[in-house]
Amino acid sequence: HDAVSVIRAKRDGLQLTDGQIDWIVDAYTRGAVTDEQMSALAMAILLRGMNRDEIARWTAAMIGSGERMDFSSLTRPTVDKHSTGGVGDKITLPLAPLVAACGAAVPQLSGRGLGYTGGTLDKLEAIPGWSATLTSEQLLAQLDSVGAVICAAGAGLAPADKKLYALRDVTGTVESIALIASSIMSKKIAEGTSALVLDVKCGSGAFMKSDEDARELAQTMVDLGKDSGVRTVALLTDMDSPLGLTAGNALEVRESVAVLAGGGPADVVELTIVLAREMLAAVGMTDIDPADALADGRAMDVWRKMIAAQGGDPAADLPAATETEVIAAESSGVLARLDAMSVGLATWRLGAGRQRQGEPVQAGAGVEWHAHVGDSVRKGQPLFTLHTDTPERIPAAVAALKDGWTIAQEGKRASL
Ligand code: URA
Repeated sequence: HDAVSVIRAKRDGLQLTDGQIDWIVDAYTRGAVTDEQMSALAMAILLRGMNRDEIARWTAAMIGSGERMDFSSLTRPTVDKHSTGGVGDKITLPLAPLVAACGAAVPQLSGRGLGYTGGTLDKLEAIPGWSATLTSEQLLAQLDSVGAVICAAGAGLAPADKKLYALRDVTGTVESIALIASSIMSKKIAEGTSALVLDVKCGSGAFMKSDEDARELAQTMVDLGKDSGVRTVALLTDMDSPLGLTAGNALEVRESVAVLAGGGPADVVELTIVLAREMLAAVGMTDIDPADALADGRAMDVWRKMIAAQGGDPAADLPAATETEVIAAESSGVLARLDAMSVGLATWRLGAGRQRQGEPVQAGAGVEWHAHVGDSVRKGQPLFTLHTDTPERIPAAVAALKDGWTIAQEGKRASL
């Protein structure tokens, strides 16, 4: 095989053979196929697509590029959840301890922010002392004792995806159903979870903007999971508006802790409970109601143990940004629209995300919005609070938010 003939085959719309796929994924991981060759192939795949056989083979090749984990020694069943990425999506933080409090083991291998979408590890690193890095032995021991782990995937897990993902991020080749499905599922299958619940996001703040594409992505991932013996279900959830009332690292930890304490925004509470029910059902634990474990503090107990087990102080004050700026409502009426992408971009510009690979993020930076879509607002009331340690970034964040919301007059409410 050679890279140019594989690229030309996909460029011309041919189906790649098993041999071509196995060879190119392996050669790329070893460095024998260059980044520029793989970016050309990724673009050909984005434009031409791959059929289900090609996607299954590609996923298997990415799994085979590294090690597989094994949780079969645990007495509790393992179940994981994956969101395809969104704005204000902090659900993993309350969800993992909640599902563990109900008796399942949750091995949540997570990532960092990508572009304007937030990353679970960046959020938890806002907690003083908390470490994202665990050895496989530490991960297993914590799953056994606490029941929930949120940590970084080790370097040995699907290394082909680590390289390819970083390349796609800078070559305009993220939004391919074939490449997203194989990227996510290679990591989840290699991780060795017995069941998986996928939260496939759809809307302005998601990689999939249309319902049809989100559905196809969901079905592709469910099929890949089932073929590998992972019980997999997918939910399609809205990402036109951001989740909760905050986006940013420490801000989202604070909101998650509020949910674990029995409060927090209703949409975050609801999605956490819906996903917890799906995760428990996927491992046959249908007699337990996660709403009870949230209400009576059991989920909060697991959260504290989970944070402490990874060196964090669950009682410590969270870092706050040095500067804030309030944006007031320009008129009275109803908040008719709040655009997830605009909020995500503003959050990122304020310093909560990275402009360059590997850059540190600001723990305190982010955006708070003071009304949900559908709430009444009065002219002059605070609509957003921007948080940052670098006030020179505020104008860029204000510009990103500028067309991100609509206040409709009360009388028009019925037509919304
Ligand atoms: N998350 C991933 O892990 N991979 C993708 O391709 C997209 C979202």
